[in-house]
Amino acid sequence: MRKRCVAILVTGCLLLNPAMASAQLPAEVREPLKNGYASLPAEIRNNPAVKNTARQWGIAPKPRPVTLRAKDDCSNCVALTFDDGPVAHTAEVLDLLQDRGARASFFVAAGNAQRHAALVRAMASSSMTVGNHTVSHRELDKLSHEEVVNELARTNAVISSLTGSSPRWMRPPYGAFNDTVAKAAGDQGLAVAMWDVDTLDWKYKDPQRTCRVAVDEAKAGSIVLMHDIHATTVDAVACIVDGLRKKGLEPVSLDQLFQKPVPGKVYTKKD
Ligand code: NI
Repeated sequence: MRKRCVAILVTGCLLLNPAMASAQLPAEVREPLKNGYASLPAEIRNNPAVKNTARQWGIAPKPRPVTLRAKDDCSNCVALTFDDGPVAHTAEVLDLLQDRGARASFFVAAGNAQRHAALVRAMASSSMTVGNHTVSHRELDKLSHEEVVNELARTNAVISSLTGSSPRWMRPPYGAFNDTVAKAAGDQGLAVAMWDVDTLDWKYKDPQRTCRVAVDEAKAGSIVLMHDIHATTVDAVACIVDGLRKKGLEPVSLDQLFQKPVPGKVYTKKD
């Protein structure tokens, strides 16, 4: 209960009193605030306004310096991708990536994006790629051209309104697409992101297995499929980032792996 009170107090101060941000807090005040900040739910802790102020106060860990380990031509890059979110614990995925200076891509469903708008904004502001994963999550190859256009356009509009820019990528639910889908995607400025490494994280729900498959099967240029709606996938993220780096590979966003994706083109990996 006490912990909870401190957490609420900290959030209130961080949000309402940014003028204090530059103040030097005495150590005896800073320590309890630090604990209070750490006990906030990840979604609040990762709100950019809260996090930045907390960092200025010295009560949130400083971001690790982002050593861009990706080579200039991205020849050691691997694109980690997370579908179907965001949900509340997507904040933890973002946290884990940011703390390691790693990047990834999130294919968001329109409804979830609206429900967790702050998270979508946080993705964009931390240089993650935000992609289109439709409104209804139906198999697009079974829909009419008009329905596909509608699914993509509505999701593009949601993402644009939150991030300020139209997405460059879409991922068809279940990987189901045909020429109609690719054409509709192309018409809306979207490249089609498939994958060459399928972790089957949704099926096994086993963080060790998800990590092992992602790290073992990824090669330079790979696109790795995962789903941030599963807590067991969140639990694999740190292991994956560290494991890839041990192999000399760097987790990046799709926008880093492919500088100029061609709308309508289908990408399974970078050759
Ligand atoms: Ni999906």
